[in-house]
Order: sequence, then C-alpha cells, then structure tokens
Amino acid sequence: MSEDPTRELEKQEERTEEASSDHASPVLRAVAEKDIGSAIAVAGHPLHAMMVHFPIALVVATLGADIFYWWSADPFWVRAGLWSAGFAFAFGVAAAIVGTAELLLVPGIRVRVASWNHAIAAMVLIAIAGANWGLRLNVPDAVLPHGLMLSVLAALVTGMAGWHGGKLVFDHGVGLLISSRK
Ligand code: HEM
Repeated sequence: MSEDPTRELEKQEERTEEASSDHASPVLRAVAEKDIGSAIAVAGHPLHAMMVHFPIALVVATLGADIFYWWSADPFWVRAGLWSAGFAFAFGVAAAIVGTAELLLVPGIRVRVASWNHAIAAMVLIAIAGANWGLRLNVPDAVLPHGLMLSVLAALVTGMAGWHGGKLVFDHGVGLLISSRK
C-alpha cells in the first residue's frame, strides 16, 4: 500500500537532513540534496514503473513457451515464443526510452551509481531479448536448444535488472514523488 505523499515528503527531507549532518561526507551530502522525483509521469504516476511489468512478464512467458515446446513438441509453442519474444523486446525498448529520459533529466538519479548499474543490466537484457527474437524470426528450428538457452539467460538478466531497479525505488527513494521542477 503506498504511503501518504506528505509522509513521503517528510521521509525524503529526513534522508536529506541525515546525509547533511556533520558526519556525512560532502559527496554524500551533495548527492542527497539533489532532486530524485520522477520527471516522466502521467497523472502523478511514474511511467517507467508502469511499463516495466510488460518486458518482465513477456521474458518469463517466452521461457515458459520454450519449456512447453521442449516438453510437448507442439509447434504452437514455437509461434507463441516468437510473439512473446518480439513483444518482450519491443516493450523493453519502450521502457528503456522512458528510463533513460529519467536518468538523463533528473539530477539525483543521474548522480547515483545504482542508476547506472540498473541501466547497464537493462541494456544487456534488451540485447539478449532482441537476439532471442531475431533468432526465432530467422531460424525457427533453433528454438531448441539455442532459443531456450537465450530465454534462460534473458530471465536471469531480467531478475538482475529488476532487482537493481527495485533498489533504486525502495533503497534510494527514487521516483516516489513527482519532480518539483517546473
Ligand atoms: C536504459 C534503460 C533503463 C534505465 C535508464 C532505467 C532507469 C530506471 C530508473 C531511473 C528507475 C527509478 C524509477 C523511476 O524513476 O521511474 C527505474 C526503476 C525500475 N526499472 Fe528501469 N530503467 C531502464 C530499463 C528497464 C527495463 C528494460 C526494465 C525491465 C526489466 C526495468 C525495470 C525496472 C524496475 C522493476 C524498476 C522499479 C520500479 C518500481 O518498483 O516502481 N528498467 N529504472
């Protein structure tokens, strides 16, 4: 359940105060003072957080389709895998465009190393998802074993990218509020 926005604001101020205390390093203080609000939001809802569910679910669905194909040899699962791999890639690119805009536009996101860790993991994921779709388009017979292997890799890297994305929100408090900049 999401918290009251006033309480979120108070928490952000507490974090800033904590980092601004005499004990914090000047670098941490400078980082904590920067804006970490979302710059790309619709009616108060950060867009990237709304979009990321699609690539995550479709990468997992592609792995599921490959496992069912391996188990049943029913070519239906090859077609299902082709579509889910294609949409995983397309939605991944769309989410990455919005994520990159947040990264570049919001100073407090840009200066955090954790943001760049997440971005690198996400770009690796998109490269694997694209390769997985391209393989299926061009060499449908290669689903077993190469497509399946790419699907396993994509699922693992999705876990890493999602975990780093979650850390940005839940550890760093990034994107909880809409940016106060006009
Ligand atoms: C270069 C590409 C990307 C960049 C620069 C990026 C950047 C960010 C940023 C700045 C946030 C913090 C929330 C916000 O400000 O909206 C975030 C959250 C997140 N990102 Fe990304 N992102 C990228 C791609 C992806 C992709 C492809 C996925 C899908 C696996 C993903 C999954 C997540 C998740 C799960 C969160 C946490 C959202 C939440 O729990 O509310 N990101 N990302």
